[in-house]
Amino acid sequence: MALLDILCFPDERLRTRAKRIEQITPAHLQLIDNMLETMYAAPGIGLAATQINVHEQIIVIDISEDKNEPYCLINPQVISHSGKEKMEEGCLSVPETYAEVERADSVVVSYLDRKGNEVKLEADGLLAVCLQHEIDHLQGKLFVDYLSRLKRDRIRKKLVKQQRM
Ligand code: NI
Repeated sequence: MALLDILCFPDERLRTRAKRIEQITPAHLQLIDNMLETMYAAPGIGLAATQINVHEQIIVIDISEDKNEPYCLINPQVISHSGKEKMEEGCLSVPETYAEVERADSVVVSYLDRKGNEVKLEADGLLAVCLQHEIDHLQGKLFVDYLSRLKRDRIRKKLVKQQRM
């Protein structure tokens, strides 16, 4: 396994829309293992392939306390959502930055698991937020896009400055 480099906002590559995966190959499974290892090492609770500059629709999530309940989702799609909830979010691509974002508080997501089985997952609370956040990454969208332009510009300046150091 290997740790992968994570792109940081405002890197334009984070704006790429990921392609659907037509056939799951051993290379995808290897990538999923490396993404999990990278997410756990960061440490984080979710990672999208976009963040490691691979533009295919894969996300990994683990919100469990003991870091032993990984979700690996291929071609994930929100097929229904309800309610609204505000939660503080962060992102491995926007280091040391947290802000409240309003999202649906429950979602149903369809995806393929690593064996290619179609799965439907109903989630609420933190898992629902996490799924929406990671699926956004695959569309080139970041949580800072939900903030005001003023706040986003302030975050961009701060991170550009840090990345120069
Ligand atoms: Ni993120």
